[in-house]
Amino acid sequence: MYLGLDLGTSGLKALLIDADQKVVASASAALSVSRPHEGWSEQDPADWIAAAEEAIGALVLSHAKQMAALRGIGLSGQMHGATLVDGAGMVLRPCILWNDTRSHAEARALDADPRFRQITGNIVFPGFTAPKLAWIRTNEPEIFARVAKVLLPKDYLRLWLTGETISDMSDSAGTAWLDVAGRRWSPDLLAATGLGEEHMPRLVEGTAPAGQLRGELAAKWGMTGHVVVAGGAGDNAASACGLGVAKGGEAFVSLGTSGVVFAATDAYLPNPQSAVHTFCHAIPQTWHQMGVILSATDGLNWLAGVTGAKPAELTGELGAELRAPSGVTFLPYLSGERTPHNDAAIRGALIGLSHQSDRASLTQAVLEGVAFALRDNLEALRAAGTELAAVMAVGGGSRSQLWLKTIATVLGIPVELPADGDFGAAFGAARLGLIAAENAEPSSVLTRPGIASIIEPDRALASAYGDAYARFRALYPALKGV
Ligand code: XUL
Repeated sequence: MYLGLDLGTSGLKALLIDADQKVVASASAALSVSRPHEGWSEQDPADWIAAAEEAIGALVLSHAKQMAALRGIGLSGQMHGATLVDGAGMVLRPCILWNDTRSHAEARALDADPRFRQITGNIVFPGFTAPKLAWIRTNEPEIFARVAKVLLPKDYLRLWLTGETISDMSDSAGTAWLDVAGRRWSPDLLAATGLGEEHMPRLVEGTAPAGQLRGELAAKWGMTGHVVVAGGAGDNAASACGLGVAKGGEAFVSLGTSGVVFAATDAYLPNPQSAVHTFCHAIPQTWHQMGVILSATDGLNWLAGVTGAKPAELTGELGAELRAPSGVTFLPYLSGERTPHNDAAIRGALIGLSHQSDRASLTQAVLEGVAFALRDNLEALRAAGTELAAVMAVGGGSRSQLWLKTIATVLGIPVELPADGDFGAAFGAARLGLIAAENAEPSSVLTRPGIASIIEPDRALASAYGDAYARFRALYPALKGV
């Protein structure tokens, strides 16, 4: 048996699989975010441990025999968060999360130092870890002075599970301190924020063993043998492991709160100018590129909030057939944008409203606007040397066939919908636990799911959507100007 733990922003999920990778059981526990000031987003790491205790405890209750036979644990987590611990492993302040934008000035300052883009292959985004430490150094110097280790969220869970400070390559690539080509910490970049390698966890590959479950916890949960904890992965790389997106050219689109276009690459192919993220994959000798939009299903949730209808009701009004573009353009920048604009201050817009603009046309505009923003991401990956032949679709938004048809037509490539199943980050983490515990060959474990349906682009409407995308492209610079 192998357990995947995915520490998300809104909850922690624990998922148990057997040696044939069949899902045996899963359990979740909710988490909340605290926003004490505009732009701040924090969580208390003690809540992560309580959530893990709750979810694992539920599995021990419902599946005691299977949990007793546990051999491996894999960890996945929300990326970029700064969890600060002192020499005794005590947490010094609430964790500053990936969607906290307080350190935008520090991010701009670090990004102006050319070594950051050169060594990490990425823009220093406000959400990344290094600018958060620069902010703490200036604003909370007494805490900065006591920092012994900076840990990413899932690695704080590892500290609790194993007593060890270790991280993996994929998650560490999101700190802005990793030499992403060399897969090692950069002493120069650490020094630029007043830190050294001694402040960082030891690095391993995501598939490698990285600690062993502490005897006290194993006894409490009734486990009989040694339980290996794998290096694990940041949540996007873990999802890729769940979907078997492991080799160059394989890709997925995630339609969650935020939206992601993720492509595995066999080489390090950075292109910071177009705000693409270039990170290590959780698999040795493999990297990935990723475009991130900050509002995907969140765009539809926003419209649902203002119209008082449920998202499924809104999409239901449109039917399943793709129509010509609505003529209304939605820019989905409700909380700023990462790829391709790297603009924390920009906000969304609805443009082209007329007397004919009813609720259905606004819903259509939202589905189109998110699809256009994903096309921007595809173009950013293309500029970084990656051509995609097709993408798998995952996340809550992939339940709308019409949205998938819109995306396939706007991207100009088929969208593949995996057969029913749980191929998310927790499943990917469980697979990494299996690989580490059994010393298995990653490619034999990280296979692709069956595909339930392939949604082809609508060739008849392709050129109308091409024109609508060109209008969308022209609107960001205009909007920025005002
Ligand atoms: C990736 C990113 C998000 C978080 C969300 O760069 O910021 O996907 O990992 O959990």
